[in-house]
Amino acid sequence: MSDMEVEEVSFLPGDTILHKKSVYEPTRHQRCQQLICSRTWAIVILILLGMLLVIIASIAAFARPECKVCASTDHCDIKPISTVAPKPEFIATNGKEFPWKNIRLPESILPISYDIFMHPNISTSVFKGRVKIMLDIQHETDFIVFHITDLNITDYSITASGSNVIAREFMEYKKNKQFYILLERSLKTSENVQLEVKFEGQLISKLEGFYKSTYKTKDGEERHIATTHFEPTAARAAFPCFDEPQMKATFRMSIVRDKQHVALFNMPLLSSKPATDNNLVIDEFQLSKRMSTYLVAFVVSDFDHISDTTKNNVTVSVYAPKDMINQAEFALNSAVKILEYYDEFFGVPYPLPKQDLIAIPDFAAGAMENWGLITYRLTALLYDPSSSSLSSKQWVATVVAHELAHQWFGNLVTMEWWDDLWLNEGFASYVEYLGTDVVLPNFRMTDQFIVDDFLVALNLDSLSTSHPIQTEVSNPDQINEIFDKISYNKGSSILKMLREFLGEENFKKGLSSYLTTHKYGNAKTSDLWESLQGVSGSNINVKDVMDTWTLQMGYPLVTIKRSEDSVTLEQDRFLFNPNSDEKPEFISPFDYQWYIPFTYITDKNPSHIQTIWMNKTSVTIEFDKSNRWIKGNVRLNGFYRVDYGDMWHEIIKQLQDNHKTFNVVDRVGLVDDAFMLSRCNKLDARTAIEITKYMENETEYIVWSTVITGQLKFLLSQLRNQESYQYLQKYIKKLISNQIKAVGWNDEGTVLHKFLRTGILDMARQVGHKETIEKGKELFLRWKTEPDSINQNIKSVILRIGIEFGDEDDWNFVWEKSKTTLIPSEKDTLVRALVYTKDVRIINMYLNRALNDTKITDIVLREMSRNPVGQIFAWQFLQEHWQELFKRYGSGSFTMTGIVQSLITTFNTQFYHDQVKNFFDNRDMATATRAVRQSLESITSRIDWMEKNSQLIGDWLKENYS
Ligand SMILES: *[C@@H]1O[C@H](CO)[C@@H](O)[C@H](O)[C@H]1NC(C)=O
Ligand SMILES: *[C@@H]1O[C@H](CO)[C@@H](O)[C@H](O)[C@H]1NC(C)=O
Ligand SMILES: *[C@@H]1O[C@H](CO)[C@@H](O)[C@H](O)[C@H]1NC(C)=O
Ligand SMILES: *[C@@H]1O[C@H](CO)[C@@H](O)[C@H](O)[C@H]1NC(C)=O
Ligand SMILES: [Zn+2]
Repeated sequence: MSDMEVEEVSFLPGDTILHKKSVYEPTRHQRCQQLICSRTWAIVILILLGMLLVIIASIAAFARPECKVCASTDHCDIKPISTVAPKPEFIATNGKEFPWKNIRLPESILPISYDIFMHPNISTSVFKGRVKIMLDIQHETDFIVFHITDLNITDYSITASGSNVIAREFMEYKKNKQFYILLERSLKTSENVQLEVKFEGQLISKLEGFYKSTYKTKDGEERHIATTHFEPTAARAAFPCFDEPQMKATFRMSIVRDKQHVALFNMPLLSSKPATDNNLVIDEFQLSKRMSTYLVAFVVSDFDHISDTTKNNVTVSVYAPKDMINQAEFALNSAVKILEYYDEFFGVPYPLPKQDLIAIPDFAAGAMENWGLITYRLTALLYDPSSSSLSSKQWVATVVAHELAHQWFGNLVTMEWWDDLWLNEGFASYVEYLGTDVVLPNFRMTDQFIVDDFLVALNLDSLSTSHPIQTEVSNPDQINEIFDKISYNKGSSILKMLREFLGEENFKKGLSSYLTTHKYGNAKTSDLWESLQGVSGSNINVKDVMDTWTLQMGYPLVTIKRSEDSVTLEQDRFLFNPNSDEKPEFISPFDYQWYIPFTYITDKNPSHIQTIWMNKTSVTIEFDKSNRWIKGNVRLNGFYRVDYGDMWHEIIKQLQDNHKTFNVVDRVGLVDDAFMLSRCNKLDARTAIEITKYMENETEYIVWSTVITGQLKFLLSQLRNQESYQYLQKYIKKLISNQIKAVGWNDEGTVLHKFLRTGILDMARQVGHKETIEKGKELFLRWKTEPDSINQNIKSVILRIGIEFGDEDDWNFVWEKSKTTLIPSEKDTLVRALVYTKDVRIINMYLNRALNDTKITDIVLREMSRNPVGQIFAWQFLQEHWQELFKRYGSGSFTMTGIVQSLITTFNTQFYHDQVKNFFDNRDMATATRAVRQSLESITSRIDWMEKNSQLIGDWLKENYS
């Protein structure tokens, strides 16, 4: 799965940890507020308890008690107050105690195959279904527990050895989303057992389970489609199932659809036959491979498609609304090329006969890797060469490459449980760069990896509220929570480090062996280490080394201490707040020491890369007196930072004399390490600024994007309300002045030079650079009458300037355009630009409109943090509408986290710290729980920085730039 796109560069060191995805929370039942509700509940339970079992079983079991206050048929969240047993936490819907007390399913029964029949009615928003599950009895047992949520069971039966087995009792426990059936007799391991369940559910726009999505044709006509999203725990909302990733089975599917619609499933169509109702057709699909429930998908739509074939005869198709199918070509071509590349790279060919990619108008994540039927948010799949920017093109290629990588890592071989989620996501996040590189060779993806993945992970992992890559999770909220930058970005970064020290060939052979050994099955992290060890033939103990990176959180700072003719390298955990009061809830099994493959070069021989292992200890190496400096972590292949101590001055001197002595990626490392060391007061903040001075001569995009979204953004937000802000603006104007001239306004140069232009012009806007703003305003006015007059790559900056310095008419013009465009990437740019208005009334109006338009809610709320005025109002808005937002997004993976973090992480006063803390204390934050703690830690570190540095930096800036 991947997150939604974050425009420009997605990492903002020390600030918002933005995620790439969002969720529109399902039909969470109404929460009862009043106490009376719980009393009603208690009475209902007492009555139920008093009833005879027969009556309960025959009448009451499926008729759920209705809450008299909120009229919900779901149970009320407030626990019944009752001194009478059963224990409140295990009360089933029939009022009895639920006998199965584990959130995991029993191991006595495993599913072998599912046969699903599904009849969605898009106009009445109801679906009816039937599932037959063949079961494998592992141990003799007289009960069955499976998953279900938000479905009504209308009938069920169990057959064993050809005859019906009577159920003595059955009940549902909503909290664990489980259903329990007690049988009249035991099932033997030798028996063929089938569980058949008939059920009904609602097709509402909840973005999870089996749901309805809506779009408009170019004539403004509203159309509906029915689609699915299951990862991690929502397959149970579409059909009763054993919803755990290791409970793999095969799936057969039949879908009833309207004649004019098309139905899609993981596998190709087998046959279509007319249903009894003449307007309906029953599509039956081929039997799937053995797979996990969260990867099942089906969609009924009126979409059009285009197709092509790979060298290995896999049919690849892209589906989209008819009016948008002309934007599907780039995704199709990319998917074909990337699939062909992966076939070779993994050494295991793609195992299904087809691969569909479909654009879903309402979609929570960026995309979802369902096997053979990948679903995408519109902007992650559709690209229009004449009106989309190169960054949208890169986004499409990246998401396509990410999801295709999952077809092997995740789908063919699946993590055994969610605590190893990183095996899926770390891999896809790493391999996506290799795949994208195949279709966009000029985009320098391996360099971009450093900025977009590596630095983002280092940044988040500097918090004491981070977590180890391998982390215990049990309930759905915890599972959703680990779809974060640690699983994705740190995961991919340590894989890159591993590839570096094992060598590319060994790495590939190891992966291939892992995939072959575990195909159609599940694996754990240790299985991967075993496969890699097996082929590496080296004395490096893969498991020993990698355990220190996956089983403890954080990462090392290597401090270099120079003496007469040697240097000593010491390792310590790097933390923003080393003295934080936060009680560690996690104890490292390795005492925060790592196996570090430390690499370095020296000024005497900058092209000779040397490696020395620091095996959970410090080391000393010889170092010739005549050397001026040493540069560690060459090309940033290792997941650590380096502190050069006294040698920083030599390094700064080298950057000023000839910065090209250092490779461009090494320059990124130097400026970022210096900045981050200054953030935790290990380096004088003035030295960290000093190091950026050389940037007047810097022409490379990835270094600039590091500094723009890192140090400069940090300083701008920290000093915004200080006297010294004006000098900071002057300093930045001077720093970028050469580049403003060099980039100009024409769409010239390499791809990364075009990205640089956007970054520099936007920084010029932020510091109030007059000529840039004047030119931007002029281009904005021209764009209003001649939409094709500006190039797509700087359109976002021009729109920002137009909105920031324009009036309400300008705002309305852009808003109207965002409502009518049929190009999703253009709509995205327009919607994001609208947050830049300075008009407080419009900001509030926009927040309200966004709340009512579910297609833009998450984007607007997240982006509002980029506008200093908007941020405050959006934070207030979030508090005011918490109930509503929580209901929609509270249980999903990325959205709630993304919104909360972007709005609060950059606060830097005790006042806001306390406000945030008071607001969230005693509130259920569901999947955003860790995100809030991380934001609070970040705020604390910003307050600390202000106390120690704002005066110091202020004086320094004033001295040099007034
Ligand atoms: C499920 O059953 C309840 C109570 O009988 C009913 O109110 C609800 O509409 C049903 N839901 C569906 C999807 O049929
Ligand atoms: C692909 O299919 C075509 C015909 O459908 C066949 O001629 C060709 O040999 C197949 N190629 C591979 C690699 O299977
Ligand atoms: C340190 O660890 C590496 C990687 O396992 C190994 O190759 C090397 O021999 C170890 N060195 C020492 C001194 O233990
Ligand atoms: C830019 O580079 C030139 C030499 O190429 C050097 O003299 C000058 O000091 C550099 N500027 C800065 C600000 O480092
Ligand atoms: Zn993914």
